Amino acid sequence: MYNLLVICFSSVTLFACVKSAFPPPCDSEIYCTGPILHQVQTAKLFDDDKYFVDMKLRAAPDVVLSAFHNLSSKFPNNNVPPADLREFLNEHFEKPGTEFESWTPPDWHDKPKFLGGIADEQLLKWAGEIHNLWKSLGRKIHTGVNDQPELYSQIYTPNPVVVPGGRFRELYYWDSYWVINGLLLSEMTDTALGMIQNFLYLVNRYGFVPNGGRIYYERRSQPPFLTLMVESYYQTTRNKDFLRAALPVLEKEYQFWMTNRSVAVLLNGTLQVLNRYHVQADLPRPESYTDDLELAEGLTDELKEQLWMDLKAGAESGWDFTSRWFIDGDGHNNGTLKETRTSQILPVDLNALLCRNEKTLASFHRLLGDGDSAARYDQAAARRLEAVELVLWDAERGAWFDYSLVTHSRHSEFHPSNLAPVWARCYSRPEMGEQAVQYLRGSGALQYPNGVPTSLKESGQQWDYPNAWPPLQHMLIDGLSKLPSKDAQQLAFDLAQRWIKTNWLAYIKYEAMFEKYDVNGDGKPGGGGEYEVQLGFGWTNGVALQLLDQYGATLTSGGRHVSSGFLLPLVIAATLALQ
Ligand SMILES: *[C@@H]1O[C@H](CO)[C@@H](O)[C@H](O)[C@H]1NC(C)=O
Ligand SMILES: *[C@@H]1O[C@H](CO)[C@@H](O)[C@H](O)[C@H]1NC(C)=O
Ligand SMILES: *[C@@H]1O[C@H](CO)[C@@H](O)[C@H](O)[C@H]1NC(C)=O
Ligand SMILES: *[C@@H]1O[C@H](CO)[C@@H](O)[C@H](O)[C@H]1NC(C)=O
Repeated sequence: MYNLLVICFSSVTLFACVKSAFPPPCDSEIYCTGPILHQVQTAKLFDDDKYFVDMKLRAAPDVVLSAFHNLSSKFPNNNVPPADLREFLNEHFEKPGTEFESWTPPDWHDKPKFLGGIADEQLLKWAGEIHNLWKSLGRKIHTGVNDQPELYSQIYTPNPVVVPGGRFRELYYWDSYWVINGLLLSEMTDTALGMIQNFLYLVNRYGFVPNGGRIYYERRSQPPFLTLMVESYYQTTRNKDFLRAALPVLEKEYQFWMTNRSVAVLLNGTLQVLNRYHVQADLPRPESYTDDLELAEGLTDELKEQLWMDLKAGAESGWDFTSRWFIDGDGHNNGTLKETRTSQILPVDLNALLCRNEKTLASFHRLLGDGDSAARYDQAAARRLEAVELVLWDAERGAWFDYSLVTHSRHSEFHPSNLAPVWARCYSRPEMGEQAVQYLRGSGALQYPNGVPTSLKESGQQWDYPNAWPPLQHMLIDGLSKLPSKDAQQLAFDLAQRWIKTNWLAYIKYEAMFEKYDVNGDGKPGGGGEYEVQLGFGWTNGVALQLLDQYGATLTSGGRHVSSGFLLPLVIAATLALQ
């Protein structure tokens, strides 16, 4: 029936087995390669490998390298004992976090208008407290980072940022989309603009937006949300001058994704171009150095390099890590973390996002009166639509599925990303949206009280069952809420209610907002993965504020502490009706 064959666009891929073809994660011999990194990380002096690579140098890198050389030459095999390593670090490095000045966003004010739309008194009070949290998550980079960048792993950006929180002491790319949308609701347009300008600055410097604001992230990106950040800002401010200035930079980022992250699939006699996450830098991730080293133990050099690149591609996807990226020796979407093959998968959500970016770039050009350029992006979106439908859409199951370049076939597991084209409105026939709702209902993913899990597999990884993540809840709810059917809209509300309830119950219990939640239980944070669950938390706050804005008139704080009790039976009735 289909005539399937896959070819890779980039000839660089053909050199995938040649060790010297790849650059290290960054050029720093302190933070990304070299004996200090290796010895400090493998000695496990700190609980989290990110600790060392976030430390500031007290002297120039070559001085510190030379001092380490002198120190290590005193020991057999140059292996410095842990106590001496510690002393060396005390002498030559400062604790992490020294590159920040505390910064309270000056555009924060007490009473943003959207709070007025929240009916439930408990939720209203809570929304005010979330709004308050922006003040504690604001960070300004010390000017020293600009003056002497060689002493820091922090990448200088000109404007203050709202960070996610916890171990994430720097800006992050896709997190910031939900942070910025929250800031715009909080009427902090200057802070939002500053963050967007940082990303534009990074595109001008690197040709794309790195994963986060550290040099060890500089060969990988994250889901490309910059165009949509600019769209959110434009929708709030209608500032055309800003749009005009930003547009060429957005196009530059788009070019990066099309040049460096695309693959052509020959399907049924036609070449279809789609995108993937793909990082061509080997060696372990500096910030998770020992995890990567230990995971690769026993593999051949070639397989080690492949694994380390695919782990970085997993980080680039934002889903680090997940059974979604596993491909075992038989080509099944099965296995363990060691079988992560991110670069061999064409992800539904990345392609839906790029489809939305293409349509958005076309609309920006139209707004600015450039019809020819608008037509170019319209054509790109039309080509994408065709590719998404041919390669990713499964008419039988009624949803979109990731495509494996190993087996030339679609995977079949449930992930919320299977509905990303609904969110992006990247499909040609209206019934596809409704079919996707039926798929979701039949998937088994709606049976959990607190949200939609990231998968139905319990792999121990954090982007799997039982964890539910704010951006995925929001994309699903937003997509469903814009479908024409009452059924889809009711489901969107129901999911918003479940999510708000679990965020709120966890908040009153722990006095904190978490990066992720458990789909079961009575309001509790998620777990698993490489590090402890983090508090703060940028995108969680942004998503909660957006849902409270969208559904403020009808959401309730759930089964406890409810002030306007008459709404609750309605929600229970609605929830029962949906099951
Ligand atoms: C390392 O040793 C050499 C030779 O003794 C010396 O010249 C150099 O200053 C030392 N480097 C540091 C940073 O102490
Ligand atoms: C993208 O790929 C091109 C062509 O292979 C290469 O020259 C360029 O350096 C790559 N860009 C980035 C940012 O990796
Ligand atoms: C494949 O191509 C044939 C003939 O060109 C066409 O009839 C068929 O509909 C195509 N299949 C798909 C899935 O597009
Ligand atoms: C997936 O792997 C598990 C054990 O690792 C095995 O029991 C199961 O049969 C595999 N499933 C498929 C579809 O290969």
